[in-house]
Amino acid sequence: MPDIVQNPEVLALLDELTRMPGRADPYPRYARLREISPVVRADDGALVVTGYGDCATVVRDPRLQHLPADMLAFVGFPDWREHPALHQLFTSMLTLNPPDHTRLRRLVSSAFTPRRVEALRPAIERMVQDLLDGMDGHDEVDFVEAFAFPLPVNVIGELLGVPAQERAGFQTLVRDWTQVLEVITPDVLARADPAAAAIRDHLAGLVEQRRQRPTDDLLSALVQAQAADDRLTDEEVLSNAALLFAAGFETTTNLLANGVVALLHHPEQYALLGRRPDLAQPAVEELLRYDSPVQLSSRVVTAPLELGGVTVGEGERVVAYLGAGNHDPARFPDPGALRLDRADNAPLSFGGGIHYCLGAPLARLEAQIALPALARRFPSLALTGQAQRRDSLSLKGYTSLRLRTG
Ligand code: HEM
Repeated sequence: MPDIVQNPEVLALLDELTRMPGRADPYPRYARLREISPVVRADDGALVVTGYGDCATVVRDPRLQHLPADMLAFVGFPDWREHPALHQLFTSMLTLNPPDHTRLRRLVSSAFTPRRVEALRPAIERMVQDLLDGMDGHDEVDFVEAFAFPLPVNVIGELLGVPAQERAGFQTLVRDWTQVLEVITPDVLARADPAAAAIRDHLAGLVEQRRQRPTDDLLSALVQAQAADDRLTDEEVLSNAALLFAAGFETTTNLLANGVVALLHHPEQYALLGRRPDLAQPAVEELLRYDSPVQLSSRVVTAPLELGGVTVGEGERVVAYLGAGNHDPARFPDPGALRLDRADNAPLSFGGGIHYCLGAPLARLEAQIALPALARRFPSLALTGQAQRRDSLSLKGYTSLRLRTG
């Protein structure tokens, strides 16, 4: 078996992916890494895979699991419980393994079945029309503020039961909290911890109200599930409510903004989307592939397996660059081209296996309604060149995106 490659070029490429401008355009770096070797070793010892098949294996194969919270000590955070940002993340279903993961996911999964989500279509269509009306009449708008943030935050806010006037306040808090999905430094924690604590306190107030007076929202369902099952702790109710709310809007905001930028860089594809309503579904898959809002996912190996032609042993940490897998030319011919009608498209953007994104049907529905409606309403939409990227890669998106509407 060949040794796993770690050389100065690999380390330099991986380093570029941890900061701007490398984070903004990771695709050429992914391609070079994949060319060097399908599996390479980072300077912190983790293995990095960039091929479609290997990334799919990492997220799907049960021999790989999330790093158990107790192992966080090994990666430099023995005191993770003292950090609200880490504590809230590592007690949510996103990073838990069975049986805890199974128990928590079961509690909320019924709210996100394709049928339940499809029932939200009329409400989402109304919200989209209202937001487009709000953009109309302005020569220039910040698309993130005017559309990409309000749509998903209001959809998940309604579902979860976060009052309308309180939703906007979560935008910066969630951005600061989710920086812990990047390289964790003392600076990152200094912002992420108070943000996570504020999210938790706010949700704790809402949960308390639901205990007194349940309604038909998801927060009430979590509270009622806790009453029926004494294994669900207060901490788990809050961590999973925070996860649902944050994952429910931040990623979808990024899908809409990344999607619009991709479309406006390919004006013929944007025009096509306006003309061909039948492309709504494949177009969203292609936009998810082209510039995925989630670019990476990490696991630890619990039993030896082969990745990229190399046997990987128990205890190795592995990072799957999902965005790289989505641009693997062995899986997607001409991966740098945006083709809304691309055949056989199965991007890795929602992950896979037991952690496959719970909100995927909801995110898809929102984007399938929103993007074609935008293309019909504003056929001359254009970039002004003033875009502010979020300084992150794990969650890839924009904090501000100015567009001319006509
Ligand atoms: C375009 C939008 C979205 C993208 C790209 C996305 C991506 C992902 C990915 C990649 C994972 C798996 C992470 C891993 O395996 O490490 C995930 C998990 C998850 N997502 Fe999403 N997501 C999106 C929207 C949403 C929405 C709208 C919701 C909520 C309503 C949501 C809720 C969740 C939850 C709860 C999990 C954890 C599932 C589990 O661990 O079993 N996501 N998402």
